[in-house]
Amino acid sequence: MHAIGIDIGGTKIAGGIVDEFGTILRAERVPSPADDPRAMEDAVVAMITSLSSGEQIGAVGVAAAGFIDSAQSTVYYAPNINWRNEPFRTKLEARIDLPVIVENDANAAGWAEFRYGAGRLYSDMVTLTIGTGVGGAIVANDRLFRGGFGAAAELGHLRLVPDGLPCGCGARGCIEQYGSGRALLRIANECADAPGVGVALAARRERNGVLTGADVGHLIMAGDEGALAALRQLGASLGQACASLGAVLDPQVFVFGGGVAAAGDLLLEPIRAAYRDHLPARGYHPEAEFAIAELVNDAGVVGAADLARLGADAQ
Ligand code: BGC
Ligand code: NA
Ligand code: ZN
Repeated sequence: MHAIGIDIGGTKIAGGIVDEFGTILRAERVPSPADDPRAMEDAVVAMITSLSSGEQIGAVGVAAAGFIDSAQSTVYYAPNINWRNEPFRTKLEARIDLPVIVENDANAAGWAEFRYGAGRLYSDMVTLTIGTGVGGAIVANDRLFRGGFGAAAELGHLRLVPDGLPCGCGARGCIEQYGSGRALLRIANECADAPGVGVALAARRERNGVLTGADVGHLIMAGDEGALAALRQLGASLGQACASLGAVLDPQVFVFGGGVAAAGDLLLEPIRAAYRDHLPARGYHPEAEFAIAELVNDAGVVGAADLARLGADAQ
């Protein structure tokens, strides 16, 4: 059975028809109207309609960046999108003639890595998606873990710093404020403000008015000490969180996706080092593997379609 996967991001909506092997047969992509729920709904309906025309489609999975209920229907809350108790599945099913599930974006991406990517050789995996926010997915004993209200694996909102920076979720000190792409920009700006290694970051900012994610990524790849220091600080926070997650979930592998994961080993090294430093029962507890996601930009689409197709078998 072929299924449609739709991945709603802060900047784009990606969609595709996906087969039983996780292969995308046809893909589409449009800009995302992130702060207008009505325009978002229209764009998703238009994409599903266009992808499904003339095709045999069994189910639709929509991946969205927020807390989702256990019926895979309502978005309780989205820290970085204007959704509050949004009955997204009901709205979509009223307009298209296919069964729909709504899935957390990081759960979808993590599931795709577990089935077809960096997690495929393991039974227990944690994925962290490092983009605008920090998303999480937990696979335990070959199953996606959803918790009692559906919204488990919101790993970006683990508290890292008591009374730390305010977060879009309403709490303070969440790992999202110290380990996301946005956090990397904040740290890079702080580095540019301070005397020392931030000279190249400061020069970029001076030239363009603001520092962008692309600027920081470029400087990281060019080996700039300031940008690398910012990335190491990000990795140290993420690695501490992994040590705590290890104590709860004991995964065999941590998989890192999202835009910042393009830094590859430069990101994984500081994560691994901080994980080792903070690992409970260090020296006696087996150490987890750390890997970069393999499906990169396709993970959300493939995972959402796969979860829609498998239904209860994945949980
Ligand atoms: C949201 C998650 C989402 C993650 C990545 C977080 O802020 O709470 O639901 O998975 O961002 O998009
Ligand atoms: Na999640
Ligand atoms: Zn938070």
